[in-house]
Amino acid sequence: MIKLNLGRSHLIALLSICSFGVAAHGPVTPQAINTSTLPALDEEWEETNPYRTEEGDVRTEILRVGASAYNQNCARCHGLGGISGGIAPDLRQLPADYDGDEWFIYRVQNGAVRNGAVYMPKMTEHLNQEALWSIRTWLESVSDEE
Ligand code: HEC
Repeated sequence: MIKLNLGRSHLIALLSICSFGVAAHGPVTPQAINTSTLPALDEEWEETNPYRTEEGDVRTEILRVGASAYNQNCARCHGLGGISGGIAPDLRQLPADYDGDEWFIYRVQNGAVRNGAVYMPKMTEHLNQEALWSIRTWLESVSDEE
């Protein structure tokens, strides 16, 4: 009995190491973003963009990180500079208010999957809340220029 138990626990340990290895290598790996220069947010998701009201140097830094994070993680589908080439929706069109925030959160948390095909990965699995709200803030800023 003791022998069997040991064998099982070894097997479980081995299995969990293997599955971790698989999970770490997704087919399309979004780029990690350094958000240490942004105002820190809680683990729990905000309901509206917490960076929208930031001003001055803090805002400049949010926009810098957001533009870079967007270009590394979203631009290949949503278009360089936020200008959609038609593959995926133009994100500058999202309303810069609570409604837009709600939809933004829904999509970055759930991605877009149709008939089992992943059209958009679940971005919250790869990017933290700071990175995603900086992207949202940057998108709102380019939307204002239109
Ligand atoms: C692999 C391609 C791909 C990448 C990368 C991608 N998206 Fe998407 N995204 C899509 C597609 C396709 C849709 C449309 C889904 C649908 O309507 O079914 C979409 C929809 C959205 C929507 C909803 C827009 C609307 O008007 O309905 C938001 C918000 C969004 N994406 C945000 C992002 C953000 C932020 C990133 C980067 C962190 C990102 N996406 C990266 C493909 C992508």
